[in-house]
Amino acid sequence: MKSNTEKFGKTPHQSSLWTRADALKVRADDPTTTQPLVSADFPVLSNEVFIWDTMPLRDMDGNVTSVDGWSVIFTLTADRHPNDPEYIDENGNYNITRDWNDRHGRAKMYYWFSRTGKDWKLGGRVMAEGVSPTVREWAGTPILLNDQGEVDLYYTAVTPGATIVKVRGRVVTTEHGVSMVGFEKVKPLFEADGKMYQTEAQNSFWGFRDPWPFRDPKDGNLYMLFEGNVAGERGSHKVGEAEIGDVPPGYENVGNSRFQTACVGIAVARDADGDDWEMLPPLLTAVGVNDQTERPHFVFQDGKYYLFTISHTFTYADGVTGPDGVYGFVADSLFGPYVPLNGSGLVLGNPSSQPFQTYSHYVMPNGLVTSFIDSVPTDETGTQIRIGGTEAPTVGMKIKGQQTFVVAEYDYGFIPPMLDVTLK
Ligand code: FRU
Repeated sequence: MKSNTEKFGKTPHQSSLWTRADALKVRADDPTTTQPLVSADFPVLSNEVFIWDTMPLRDMDGNVTSVDGWSVIFTLTADRHPNDPEYIDENGNYNITRDWNDRHGRAKMYYWFSRTGKDWKLGGRVMAEGVSPTVREWAGTPILLNDQGEVDLYYTAVTPGATIVKVRGRVVTTEHGVSMVGFEKVKPLFEADGKMYQTEAQNSFWGFRDPWPFRDPKDGNLYMLFEGNVAGERGSHKVGEAEIGDVPPGYENVGNSRFQTACVGIAVARDADGDDWEMLPPLLTAVGVNDQTERPHFVFQDGKYYLFTISHTFTYADGVTGPDGVYGFVADSLFGPYVPLNGSGLVLGNPSSQPFQTYSHYVMPNGLVTSFIDSVPTDETGTQIRIGGTEAPTVGMKIKGQQTFVVAEYDYGFIPPMLDVTLK
């Protein structure tokens, strides 16, 4: 099998850098890049389950797609335990915060459907218990492959390890709703290699997850983005001139920022079906800046590549900071060089008065940004909070050249289709 470089005649690209100087430009609470306040009286999608990462059904080109007029989303989902003694505190109250914080360990893929692109109805689990090879079913992407309704779900099988996998099934519609059938055989695709992407052996806090396959609008080939960390033993990374960037006098000290090593990974498919993949060097690295660039995804617009990724305040390195939210970068070609949007990279952050109100933003090609509600303060001091585990209001955004602007707010969980496919 020829390697990608032979097959496509490309020289390996240079990873673009999100530098400390870029991150110094991040300004929380700039109204053009801040999500409007989420009110504490938000509605909840379900009292039985928490949901967080939301993955709209889409085609390989990134278009959010309905089938026979039904919109479909997949969500990371975990049962709520209001009556489980494990989550009842000494005063007899349900400790929802602890239940919510524990959710990652029992995350499962569920799907929901809707006629209106909101007011989602719970469809159920995508895979039956025992189908997925590991305990956790973490984020990924459901792709509608054709008008037969075939769906490839790419996701991350976690604990033990972290493997990018896919499972094929089919979406079936009736007048009354949608079901997902099949999804019985999970195919492992690849894991971190330790040469380009950090492994668990190199760092027990490694990240390797969140596959987002796509067809490059320019070369037509099949690629996949994913979240990774730059390979190497924890603590061995160098934060040098390139990673620091052009900082003002007094900003040369990088502290312990060598521990923050996020990157956006990319792989290329060797076959048309996306069953055989080759990892390529990261598209973007954030060594010395941030430790997590999660759920990377693209919007292709005006012949440009808009790369979005979510990140947290707590994963920033010493001496740089920014809000929880979605960050973005733009390039004229797939392999870069990428430039941070809005100078800093910040595209849509939480307001500092409600730093955890939303997370896991997903920017759709129509400029709509969906996310989930994490927690919203219910008093002035922010000590009392209400846990979400449900869809946040959708935000409308304009992308213009190297800038983005918040321009609208829509209903909770509003994810309208861009295309409808009539099943044969
Ligand atoms: C983002 C995220 C993903 C991961 C999942 C785990 O919210 O951290 O990167 O797949 O949640 O629950």
